[in-house]
Amino acid sequence: MLTDRESFKKLTAHFDEVKNLHLRELFANDKERGERLSAEAAGLYLDYSKNRVTDETLRLLLALAEDCGLRARIDAMFRGDKINTSEGRAVLHTALRAPRGKSLAAAQVPEAGEPVHQVLDRMRAFANRVRAGEWTGFTGKPIRNIVNIGIGGSDLGPVMAYEALRHYSRRDLTFRFISNVDGTDFCESTRDLNPEETLFIVASKTFTTLETMANAQSAREWTLKALGDPAAIARHFVAVSTAADKVAKFGIDTANMFEFWDWVGGRYSMESAIGLSTMIAIGPEKFDAMLAGSHAMDEHFRTAPLAQNLPVLMGLLTVWYDDFFKAQTVAVLPYDQYLKRFPAYLQQLTMESLGKSVTLSGEKITKYETGAIFWGEPGTNGQHSFYQLIHQGTKLVPCDFIGFRKSLNPLPSPLGNHHDLLMANVFAQSKALAFGKPAPQGQPYREFDGNRPSNTILAEQLTPAILGALVALYEHSVFTQAVIWDINPFDQFGVELGKVLAAEILPSLAKDAPLPNDDSSTVTLLKKYRG
Ligand code: F6P
Repeated sequence: MLTDRESFKKLTAHFDEVKNLHLRELFANDKERGERLSAEAAGLYLDYSKNRVTDETLRLLLALAEDCGLRARIDAMFRGDKINTSEGRAVLHTALRAPRGKSLAAAQVPEAGEPVHQVLDRMRAFANRVRAGEWTGFTGKPIRNIVNIGIGGSDLGPVMAYEALRHYSRRDLTFRFISNVDGTDFCESTRDLNPEETLFIVASKTFTTLETMANAQSAREWTLKALGDPAAIARHFVAVSTAADKVAKFGIDTANMFEFWDWVGGRYSMESAIGLSTMIAIGPEKFDAMLAGSHAMDEHFRTAPLAQNLPVLMGLLTVWYDDFFKAQTVAVLPYDQYLKRFPAYLQQLTMESLGKSVTLSGEKITKYETGAIFWGEPGTNGQHSFYQLIHQGTKLVPCDFIGFRKSLNPLPSPLGNHHDLLMANVFAQSKALAFGKPAPQGQPYREFDGNRPSNTILAEQLTPAILGALVALYEHSVFTQAVIWDINPFDQFGVELGKVLAAEILPSLAKDAPLPNDDSSTVTLLKKYRG
């Protein structure tokens, strides 16, 4: 158990010594702290100086990482060992972005080598045809609307990347993302689209997910209703999946299927064929640049000393707040409107990965915390809503600020250019959180006690490569946390029970079906629903 490790016990004793130290003191006693507690890789600069740590804390956290065998676990992942033990699978999202011929896992998992690049080649050819207007619909009109149907990792990555990289996207093409089984999502996403010009990408690793299958069937009906002929499906539907048989059964020509593999987890899949919509939006070259950005961060994670390793540092700091300060959450605060879906994307990445309470050997975890709750909104909007609690509430909320030196939309204004106004707020917020401000006499409600920790991630500009690096940074931070907590961040059995129960309950929703012999709350709700 983690808590039995000597390195963990040392941290526990150390926590008692430093838990009341104030960031004001730490900065006052070390003029170089802001510069010293920083690291840089793959175009990302991480300032972690405003964390409640001393040099000794960092030394002990790094010792814990060594003690938990982080280095060996990183190597095992890149090598293609079956580290997803509950499902007996390798974990190789890093192979998706390794340059051709450079996959470290190909020796052990041959598909993680050349086949990755063959799929990328097919994606490039297809994306180029759509972008050039050469991929025509059933009536001969070029495709103008691309609708991704998927959920979870088959939606959140694509929609986040599309929004993040919208600046680079083809503005004459329309992109939509349908995920929710709520018919409103389908209806509102398609109501203004011409079926003759619409291509559906059905994105599902398993090709069994209820929401996606229901939306795909509705898309099929919608297309057939307009175009009349089942032969139209082949021109208006492509699939991204690991399950060719199920794709064929749905009626999509497997020649129009882009495959990936069971060693790509759903929430780690945005750079697999699941990214087809992204590639159509920004073009193959920019998609390649995104892969290169992730690869640069992969290499940094794999090779940099732990003490300078961005994902390792961020992962260890999350463990420090979660397990010692008992912070329950992490707020992710991107100061870039294009990253508005980044917190939602990170929620699946972090919480589906780290929301576990048994160790790799199956022991129940009772003595320490795992998986923080990730949440956030883009700045500056959050400042006028929930920041009050972060500044003055009783809870400790570690924050990740993300900002860029240059805006993609420089806009002067009489009050100062928008980007300076935006970035002044990033620096002001982390400063206010860290250092606070004493209350004027008799006005305790004006006190900012400070000592509220944050990281600041700064990059030159939001480019495809920087987005790739950011995604890999958080993926590997998650991995680091999982290694410390001795949990499997690559399965998600916690989503299953709800799915099974929904299937059981479904027949009881019909008005004349017998009511199930169920708990009194469920039965009463069913009666209310049936009316
Ligand atoms: O919610 C569970 C989950 O399995 C996610 O992990 C996954 O990203 C999502 O469902 C969608 O799965 P699929 O791509 O197989 O449709």
